[in-house]
Amino acid sequence: MAEHPVTAGRLERIVTEIAEEMAAQTNRGKVADYIPPLARVDPAHFALAVVLPDGTTISAGDCTMRFSIQSVSKVFTLALALGKMGEQMWSRVGREPSGDPFNSIVQLEYERGLPRNPFINAGAIAVTDSILSSYMPKEALGEILQFVRFVAGDEDIAIDPAVARSEQETGFRNIALANFMREFGTIDGPVEQTLGVYFHHCAIAMTARQLAMAGRFLAYDGCLYPGGPRVIAARMARQINTLMLTCGHYDRSGEFAFSVGLPGKSGVGGGILAVAPGQAAIGCWSPGLNRSGNSELGSRALERLAERTGWSVF
Ligand code: DON
Repeated sequence: MAEHPVTAGRLERIVTEIAEEMAAQTNRGKVADYIPPLARVDPAHFALAVVLPDGTTISAGDCTMRFSIQSVSKVFTLALALGKMGEQMWSRVGREPSGDPFNSIVQLEYERGLPRNPFINAGAIAVTDSILSSYMPKEALGEILQFVRFVAGDEDIAIDPAVARSEQETGFRNIALANFMREFGTIDGPVEQTLGVYFHHCAIAMTARQLAMAGRFLAYDGCLYPGGPRVIAARMARQINTLMLTCGHYDRSGEFAFSVGLPGKSGVGGGILAVAPGQAAIGCWSPGLNRSGNSELGSRALERLAERTGWSVF
């Protein structure tokens, strides 16, 4: 950690400079094109929002534009499932980095249908299925959305129906993963219902600022803000942060941990949620992706932010 807390004024300069630096970048990665609503997003966008312990938000770039949070939603479903099921959750999903792409199926066969971690697609589908053991699909989705709105302190967060529809129409690999796990008993509900909820929570749309706000409970040991109401047990918040650090960027998780040093979770919409425990929650968005499906500029911007603030978990 930095020896002195970074003041809001200094952070303001840092965030503005990073946004300017990112605006000048020519290698912006490639926008996800597996569904039309994501393929249409302009790669020129960039947003960075940092929320400090007292709630001060410092932001630059397109921080009021909504984007599809995609796999970042897996952080919220894991928090919800852990809160409901506790340690039992770990009988359905592991805690090891996979070293494979996010939608890979190979390990599932070797490892008898038990997904490596909750942040690859198979693991997140298993987590979603566990939420469905307490709710009907519509209620489960309502519960997930309500949870995200609660942690963000913002009711103005919704699911993008066009994205959800496209996910459902093209999600053949996810359908295969779910059926494979159903055969092994990792998921026990009707596969279509589990997938329906999974596709919809991936389609939640938020701004970078809303995402940073929604991640605050992970920066403060499970409390909404320092001294605020408890969302989940401190132990669970730490477990989620650990998994974000080790598994949050798929087969580039090691690289992200090495260069940024903070727990982070990416999505193919170009969003990244990062957490500097005790210091800040960070939402970043730039839709161009690297080969592993993580935001190209988002990863670079977070590396610069960590370098300039001294924020690190190490
Ligand atoms: O299930 C999928 O493949 C997408 N809805 C989400 C994948 C994703 O965001 C992985 N991220 N990097």
